[in-house]
Amino acid sequence: MKLPIILHPDPRLKKTCAPVPDLSDDLRTLANNMLETMYDAPGIGLAAPQVGVMSRLIVLDCVKDENEPSRPLVMFNPEILSFSDDSNVYEEGCLSIPDQFADVTRPETVKVGWLDETGTPREEEFDGLWSTCVQHEIDHLNGKLFIDHLKPLKRQMITRKMVKLKRERARA
Ligand code: NI
Repeated sequence: MKLPIILHPDPRLKKTCAPVPDLSDDLRTLANNMLETMYDAPGIGLAAPQVGVMSRLIVLDCVKDENEPSRPLVMFNPEILSFSDDSNVYEEGCLSIPDQFADVTRPETVKVGWLDETGTPREEEFDGLWSTCVQHEIDHLNGKLFIDHLKPLKRQMITRKMVKLKRERARA
């Protein structure tokens, strides 16, 4: 089932999300619905607060090549365990901030720990787009958007455009 995506600005996108205490069928269904919503958008990552659920859950799949098999990842309680000193710049966007893109600097590689959909603890080091994406999604769980990494003027400009877009959509 496709879920409606909350658009910035919205107070729910500014809150810290609560850890998931126990995995349940409801949470697994939510994760599947989030993946469906993400692929449909289309996007490469989605965090629970973007669909109005204030729990530490993200989904991602950064495989871009159509000839490669997809790799949907579901992460409950994801945590950055370590990150590289080297940084990387990627042009980022967000399904909650449609049509707005900006360069964001982040650590080049990160080691992340999480619980998968079966409740098994996992650990993996990510680089490239995967690293950027997983950091972007974990930021969402801490009430942080990619525009919070930008200079205030640029952030305000994007926010003003979003307020206008939401007003237009509400009228339509
Ligand atoms: Ni986002």
